[in-house]
Amino acid sequence: MNPFWALRVHEPTSGIGHAYTNLEQIKLEQLTQGDVTVEVHYSGINFKDALATTGRGKIMKRYPLNAGIDAAGIVIESRNPQIKVGQKVLVAGAGTGESFDGGFAEIMRANSESVVPLPEGLDLREAMILGTAGFTAALALHRMLENHQKPPMGPILVTGASGGVGSFAVQLFSQMGFAVHAVSGKHEAIRYLETLGAEKVIPPSELGLGSRPLESVKYGGVVDNVGGKLLTQAMAHTQLWGNICCIGLADSPDLHATVLPLILRGVSLLGVSSNNTPHELRVKLWNKLGQEWKPRHLERTLTRTVELKDAMEACEDLMHRRVTGRILVRIRQGE
Ligand SMILES: NC(=O)c1ccc[n+]([C@@H]2O[C@H](COP(=O)([O-])OP(=O)(O)OC[C@H]3O[C@@H](n4cnc5c(N)ncnc54)[C@H](OP(=O)(O)O)[C@@H]3O)[C@@H](O)[C@H]2O)c1
Repeated sequence: MNPFWALRVHEPTSGIGHAYTNLEQIKLEQLTQGDVTVEVHYSGINFKDALATTGRGKIMKRYPLNAGIDAAGIVIESRNPQIKVGQKVLVAGAGTGESFDGGFAEIMRANSESVVPLPEGLDLREAMILGTAGFTAALALHRMLENHQKPPMGPILVTGASGGVGSFAVQLFSQMGFAVHAVSGKHEAIRYLETLGAEKVIPPSELGLGSRPLESVKYGGVVDNVGGKLLTQAMAHTQLWGNICCIGLADSPDLHATVLPLILRGVSLLGVSSNNTPHELRVKLWNKLGQEWKPRHLERTLTRTVELKDAMEACEDLMHRRVTGRILVRIRQGE
């Protein structure tokens, strides 16, 4: 096979001090091992990809490594009898673009546990508009429903709402009959979030949350992408038996809270780890995303499509909070 293009992250050097990324041509033999080889058609940009490619976060477990925690494409070689050559698949999580070469490349090798047959109801492009962002929002919905979250308990507060995970959380919860209050620091995203189904869009400065361990109940539950102070405050305003799904750390990994909401209101703090989701649940949720949970405004969520050569610039934009919704990466020309 001829050499192919990949966006490859290299070890930090003493001169630069952090990992650095190049668009370069590599050979198949340079890829990390896996029993399935995929011709990648699309990927998408997630917060983790932006941290990895810009060197702002220590994401890669080894160097050099192709970035991209998501990929969708066609199988060109398989040692797993259940995955056939010519089959359309998506690859996400289970260390993709972190421990193994990822989807910002024309070809990738994957381990079967990270490979999901393309769900009915999605094409390769739609699967990557969703990407890990859509999957994680679905995982949050799944965990909260499993723990008895119900619309009459009150509105769901979604933080970091204009981002990838936030945009899909707003859609999925509103489609399931929940009132959604979206928190966004972007004034220009108000109309966008209303279109996706938010009943209210509120800037963080106007939330009016208190700082005592228990405050008046305002929310039935919370989907949190930012961590830190906002998460702590939102906990204190959560309804009896409400759920808080802790997804991200866009603001901070810190959580300085008391146990009072948990022990006096029965509030549950639920974690999600898209990367470590068991394969069976991964396949189940992806299938739901192609069917009954398919976001109604999937195309509206896509705000930009870039070629592989422009993915670095898009990652910088994401890091500087200049992105609303999702950025799709078109890996193969002419798709
Ligand atoms: N647990 C998991 O499995 C999992 C999976 C995927 C992602 N994540 C995490 O979830 C978070 C969101 O990921 P994403 O891919 O949706 O990223 P994204 O598209 O960049 O969205 C993050 C959003 O958070 C808000 N934000 C950014 N910087 C902030 C800051 N300093 N303070 C407060 N808010 C800030 C912005 O929303 P507004 O401008 O609208 O406020 C931004 O659009 C990230 O922390 C990511 O690492 C976790």
